[in-house]
Amino acid sequence: MPAAEPRKARRAAAPTLSAALPQRVAFEAHANGDVFACCADFSVGLGNFGPEALAQARRLREGLPLASFSSGKRGVDREVDLLVRRLSRRGLVEFCLSDGSIAIEPQTPNYWPQTPQLRDADTLQLSRFAYFHRRGDALALESPRADALFRLRDPRIAGVLAMLTAPRRIEELRREPNFPGLTLLALLADCGILLRARGRRPEEDFEGLALWEFHDLLFHARCTAGRHANPVGAVYAHSGVVQPLPAARPSWPGEKIALSSYCEEDAAKASAFAKLLRDRHSARSFDAARPIALAELARFLDGAARLLWASEEKSGFDDGGMAARPYPTAGAANELELYLAVENCEGLARGFYHYDSALHALAAIDAPADAFEALLSGAVEAMGAAHAPQILIVIAARFGRVSWKYGSIAYSLILKDAGVLTQTLYLMATEMGLGGCAIGISNIELFAKLTGVADHSEGPVAQFALGRPAG
Ligand SMILES: Cc1cc2nc3c(=O)[nH]c(=O)nc-3n(C[C@H](O)[C@H](O)[C@H](O)COP(=O)(O)O)c2cc1C
Repeated sequence: MPAAEPRKARRAAAPTLSAALPQRVAFEAHANGDVFACCADFSVGLGNFGPEALAQARRLREGLPLASFSSGKRGVDREVDLLVRRLSRRGLVEFCLSDGSIAIEPQTPNYWPQTPQLRDADTLQLSRFAYFHRRGDALALESPRADALFRLRDPRIAGVLAMLTAPRRIEELRREPNFPGLTLLALLADCGILLRARGRRPEEDFEGLALWEFHDLLFHARCTAGRHANPVGAVYAHSGVVQPLPAARPSWPGEKIALSSYCEEDAAKASAFAKLLRDRHSARSFDAARPIALAELARFLDGAARLLWASEEKSGFDDGGMAARPYPTAGAANELELYLAVENCEGLARGFYHYDSALHALAAIDAPADAFEALLSGAVEAMGAAHAPQILIVIAARFGRVSWKYGSIAYSLILKDAGVLTQTLYLMATEMGLGGCAIGISNIELFAKLTGVADHSEGPVAQFALGRPAG
């Protein structure tokens, strides 16, 4: 038998990138061409599409190569492209590599798969914010900085990627038997899960990101809306599976020492402050005919949030000094800022403002109108209210003020400070006969759009609706 010819080293063809409809999503098309994407408990309108585009879109169930429509010139291609982008914006489509190794789930409305050009000489390293974890029966690779999550079906790929804890050139990775291919590396680089090492320090050590610990940035991105596609709010994920805990803790066994005889049982005789605490309650609907007035807002901010003192004095470190307002903050960091979305305030134009606590003044911010409206409608939804609050206060944190000093406990301190401020706002509103309501959900992407400030530098951690209560 003739000796086998030596095989030439060949580079595998780049895998095809396809869009696919997840099992949980189905299309519903009406006779007039209106198309809806339906999940278990909700449906969203996608727009009006022709029968040919819809027939193509139905092929999303098995996967439709992006190249088959995204660069197409035909009208039907443009329609399919629009439909897939609308699905993607809502996290209702995923992208797959044809070799079946990877599924990509968009996490933000901005995501669309991009494959920046990589060369063999490029050096890559895993972001220090990237992490692997088990999700269901898949291995998920994600990062609070990434616009998409990657589901890996082949654990050998994870092995190669794990080599990138140290910077390595792509030509070195190519020699690995399980080299996953340039397309995957480019998709991961586009999401910031892989970084191109350019200098001695990776790019995420600059621009404020250096001040974030891994767990704090992950917690911040996952307990707010805007940078992930998970449901937020009261989702009742364990209903019917795990028994809920009782609202009041069951008593400890044994004898009790009664305290009632030591305090004033007659509510009318309680101290003014004890009364204020008991009067405080949440108000979610406001009197549209009698909006809060600018003078009241000024008094409210003066009482609850005005800067009392700031000191340049350093605590032995070059820490930027300390400052205080009527509520305490950890280490007198004074990291919390108030931004006001004004819907209806007598004497003040509708718009977005920063409260300058040192000058006791409002600075108007030229925020994009769509982001402003989205902020107010988010508050309406969170409160289950019929109308927007007269003023929505966004409590934002200058994270670096706390993390510079406190490291791993920084974010938890910021949330505690936000709770202290929230109660202060409630009490000031109650004392003035105004109504208020804390809002637990903030959207970090939206805030970045409103202010133009990077979401890791300053971002929302709490919200408070304010106004003259209805009836
Ligand atoms: C941290 C926090 C988050 C809250 N988030 C919301 C919210 O998103 N929507 C809402 O309607 N109420 C929200 N509330 C208000 C609570 O539902 C309310 O305080 C609770 O029902 C008790 O009622 P009360 O404030 O009238 O005493 C929040 C309260 C707190 C302290």
